[in-house]
Amino acid sequence: TERKIIIIPGDGIGKEVTNEAVKVIEHINHSSCDVVNYEYFNRDADFYLEHGYILKDSDIKSLTDGVDGILFGAIGDPRIPNMEHGRELLLKLRQSLDLYVNFRPIRAVSNCYSPLKENRVEGADMVIFRENTQGLYTQVGGSVAGVDGTQAAMDTAYYSTHSVDRIIREAFEWAVANDRRRVDLVDKANAVTNIGQLWRTRFRKISKEFNHIETGEHYIDAYCQRMVSDPRSIDVVVSSNLFGDILGDLGAGVVGGLGITPSANINPQSGIALFEPVHGSAPDIAGKGIANPVASLYSLALLYDHLRLDKWGKRITAAVDEYLQMASSHKTPDLGGEAGTSDVTEQIISLIDVS
Ligand code: NAI
Ligand code: MG
Repeated sequence: TERKIIIIPGDGIGKEVTNEAVKVIEHINHSSCDVVNYEYFNRDADFYLEHGYILKDSDIKSLTDGVDGILFGAIGDPRIPNMEHGRELLLKLRQSLDLYVNFRPIRAVSNCYSPLKENRVEGADMVIFRENTQGLYTQVGGSVAGVDGTQAAMDTAYYSTHSVDRIIREAFEWAVANDRRRVDLVDKANAVTNIGQLWRTRFRKISKEFNHIETGEHYIDAYCQRMVSDPRSIDVVVSSNLFGDILGDLGAGVVGGLGITPSANINPQSGIALFEPVHGSAPDIAGKGIANPVASLYSLALLYDHLRLDKWGKRITAAVDEYLQMASSHKTPDLGGEAGTSDVTEQIISLIDVS
């Protein structure tokens, strides 16, 4: 079988870790008849600084026509402090392709590399469903006159019933399909009451269709403390765009850092999906050859699953899991070692079963 994907490396370590994922694609292409063809979409900060734009509406067709999936690195550059180009690229893609599910699996593979050196992390296996199109990220707002006479700024959080329903439903359906026990709604309904009420009402209604799944409704503040102190008690989580973003990075920190957590941006109706590490372009380590490629390789595994090549998704995941259980001397500096980016990929490739 043949598939076609688009690769958008982006900026900084986005380019570096995506390059590693390509090595794995090449390895599988050469060792099997499951061929994934890829084309690059090389838009980055340099392109934006030169041309004044990064993504035109007319580009979108080429990113989707005949394309089975998108692999993304990261976008962000210190020369563009307001991240206009990042919003224009990633937020525009999420919104124009209506990639309303942001799927963030967070799994503690081995306790040996966790910053919380205690058993309570081992076995943690949390999955976050973040609403990916609305909330505080709709860019509705601006400068306004403040009620106290000083200048003020406003961003509006907005949710439609349609958007809330479809992400909640996705979380429940995934929980059923993957033998999960529980779905928690995480919000701040005690203080942000209008949106809170909408989510809670819809959550209760939809949960009735899935009556063998346990449910919980929690405030984000207390839930953050629980994610740190008792991550194993967390199963499937559904949350807003902002809180899902924060919980994703917090969960990453709990199980070993941003270097290892993947994500997917999916539209289950159209089948269009973009896979990316949770982390950003990490300008502090870019160009040094020490970025951890694991998050990108796990994202690639999710992409293979999406391409209905889940045999390879499983094998990549198994190889990365096995690698993560090795001693820290095999790891990049974020996990306490001195290995370089390409050393890690080399080790992982040698662990991929190509029989
Ligand atoms: P970041 O995720 O780029 O970095 C945070 C910290 O984690 C840094 O110390 C970095 O060195 C470390 N880190 C991240 N990924 C790593 C990896 N693979 N291996 C080893 N260490 C890793 O977040 P930050 O610093 O807040 O943002 C940097 C830029 O990235 C900004 O321009 C930001 O807007 C952008 N960004 C882009 C995202 C995306 O493209 N989806 C997501 C988050 C941030
Ligand atoms: Mg984030």
